[in-house]
Amino acid sequence: MLAGEANAAPTLSAWRIKSWFWGDCQRVGYCQLVSAGVKVHFMKPVALVTGANKGIGFEVARAIARSGYVVLLGARNPTTGREAAGTLTSERLDVRFVELDVTRMETISAAAARIEADFGKLDVLVNNAGIADSHDGPPSRVSIEVMERVLRTNFLGAVAVAQAVLPLLRKSHAGRIVNVSSDLGSITRHGDATWKYAHVKVLGYCASKAALNMFTVQLAFELRDQGIAVNSVNPGFTATDLNAHRGQQTVKEGAAEIVRVALLEHGPSGKFLETGGELVW
Ligand code: NAI
Repeated sequence: MLAGEANAAPTLSAWRIKSWFWGDCQRVGYCQLVSAGVKVHFMKPVALVTGANKGIGFEVARAIARSGYVVLLGARNPTTGREAAGTLTSERLDVRFVELDVTRMETISAAAARIEADFGKLDVLVNNAGIADSHDGPPSRVSIEVMERVLRTNFLGAVAVAQAVLPLLRKSHAGRIVNVSSDLGSITRHGDATWKYAHVKVLGYCASKAALNMFTVQLAFELRDQGIAVNSVNPGFTATDLNAHRGQQTVKEGAAEIVRVALLEHGPSGKFLETGGELVW
């Protein structure tokens, strides 16, 4: 019992400590000393990555876990999700599969409830899940049905997941949301006919990332006094299934800035970032 706390409820302050308990790969731990008795427990920071069974998300999950986090690897398909989590646990990383289809509210609610029950908080959300649609096309003729499908996953899915876990992010000492966006979501870039991707006018995908960027800016503003940073990150053109592996970067390169921003405590908020700097909205 600490001095002056004889009648206090059994909760005390928590503080960050250097952790030697988990070895070099675990840089920090959280130590909570509970005043009633000598119950001391350590809790690693916790991150949720959506659409993490493959591509950039998988690499983000791996890198965040390597930094000492418990990573909840979100995937809509339990078979591929478990397999991906298994690959990372075999690398001795603390990665756990969580079923999460960002277009299905029941899986979002169940995932949030599980995080609450298992950890009581969330430190990082990476809204990575995304799709491109082969029927997407120019604004004069893209079908509304295709647009709805892409917006539902890339924009509404990200908003729904963030809303569901926001109460848990508020319990972190430095909550972070990283929305995986794209330079194809930059309205300024699309307005420049000389831009190298100016010809890529697939309205569904581009509008979904522009809308995601709006979510970033508005949520960052709303949470500006709550210690939660919200940023958009453009991974850059990366070889994945999304683009039939036409991208020029490796997934490790594509993941790099997402991981940097995800791990950055008390960093900037409301920004659109990519490796090496800031992007125009
Ligand atoms: P990918 O196709 O390899 O991975 C996308 C992931 O999202 C997969 O795990 C997929 O299962 C998941 N996903 C799709 N719909 C989902 C849903 N309803 N619920 C849960 N998960 C779902 O593609 P990639 O490239 O790794 O994409 C990751 C993110 O990076 C996406 O948001 C994408 O828009 C973005 N991005 C990718 C670029 C690239 O060049 N590969 C460039 C700019 C942005």
